[in-house]
Amino acid sequence: MKNYGDLKIKDHCLTVGGCKASALAEKYGTPIYVFDVNRAVKTAKAYVDVLEKEYGNFTVCYASKAFCCTGIYNVLAPLGLGADVVSGGELYTALKGGIDPKRIYFHGNNKSESEIKYALTVGVGCFVVDSIDEADIISKHARAPQRVIVRVNPGVEAHTHRFIQTTMPDSKFGFSVADGTAKQFILSIKDKPNIDFAGVACHIGSQIFEKQSFEIAIDKMTDFIAELEKLGVKVKILDLGGGFGIRYIDEDNPLTPEQYMANSARYLKAAAEQKGITLPHLVVEPGRSIVGEAGITLYTVGSIKTIKDLKTYAAVDGGMFENPRPSMYDAEYTAVVADRADAENTNTYSIAGKCCESGDVLIKDIKLPKLSRGDVLAVLSTGAYHYSMASNYNRNAVPPVVAVKDGKSDYMIKPQTYEDLVRNDVIPFSENNK
Ligand code: LLP
Repeated sequence: MKNYGDLKIKDHCLTVGGCKASALAEKYGTPIYVFDVNRAVKTAKAYVDVLEKEYGNFTVCYASKAFCCTGIYNVLAPLGLGADVVSGGELYTALKGGIDPKRIYFHGNNKSESEIKYALTVGVGCFVVDSIDEADIISKHARAPQRVIVRVNPGVEAHTHRFIQTTMPDSKFGFSVADGTAKQFILSIKDKPNIDFAGVACHIGSQIFEKQSFEIAIDKMTDFIAELEKLGVKVKILDLGGGFGIRYIDEDNPLTPEQYMANSARYLKAAAEQKGITLPHLVVEPGRSIVGEAGITLYTVGSIKTIKDLKTYAAVDGGMFENPRPSMYDAEYTAVVADRADAENTNTYSIAGKCCESGDVLIKDIKLPKLSRGDVLAVLSTGAYHYSMASNYNRNAVPPVVAVKDGKSDYMIKPQTYEDLVRNDVIPFSENNK
């Protein structure tokens, strides 16, 4: 096991946040997501510190979609982070968790009128406008000039899974820079009543390792800003989105937040100077990189099934309901046996989930020590896009999130009960459905 977050092996046992993983499994049951609070704080602080040093005029907005609950905002807000939200629900949670509304950027390619009204009422700092009608709806409901930036598609091909790539020419996100629609749209809204046009946003994809992809985005965005400024349009904010990759498997070698950010900050300063544009307020929106390696998922191994001459499945008590990423994106993971974390990997298993789908396999062909029913298996780097993408498929309960910190543990999100699963069910047309 390489370095995943701050995981340690002590007396052959995996520990996280100073807690023994198998003891957490015993105390809280499985499956559970475990979240190392200090690890997330450390990464978030790294973003703030490096931008303070290298750039000065910036906002780090945590991308809520990676892991959204009041507890995470409660940890990040005191560090001065804002939030990127994409729905009324994320906005509500961010406010409940203590994020300053002025530091909220409201994204989304199809915000509803009621979401827009809600965001205006609570005073979100900035809308990231992503459709023509959105600007009209904001203009109609805003009582004072509302700050907006415009999501553009700079057309950058980042090397990542095609479903998490967002700036290909046919993307549903943003106004295209290449065909002139972005410029046209900005010119059309900049003098609209109650619209305070302040800048531009892009997001080139997720789980990106190459710093060059961000450099190309900066090149294209600063070219575009220069073009707008020539037309007399002031651009105060440049939002470069998130996308910074993390380690899921030993072969992954992500840069550190310091490296990603120092590079982008320097590159942006040089580009701005060369193109003669005002240095914009820089917004970055890391999601996965703040929470991803802070999370692990603990499972209990159940049935083990060998198909002669083909493979051996070890089934766990989770599956695609709590981690849909392998079936959606062919995502790969590393796992360790919690109490034999440094034992020799002698056997090959496919780790199957418990959902009624052949495709519900969490890890294909991983080498592990010999497994037995009852072993606690830890899958690493599950802090981002796991809880937030979980479902009740097959009416499985979404696992709780247990926070760990300095050797202590506590719920961050409580477990769902069977009663929770039927709470909103009603028998239609019946007497008690009133
Ligand atoms: N900003 C915008 C506008 C975004 O669309 C995203 C992610 C982010 C920031 C945060 O990106 P991050 O730093 O987390 O890479 N469900 C997929 C990832 C989808 C990402 C969508 N947008 C997954 O599980 O890999």
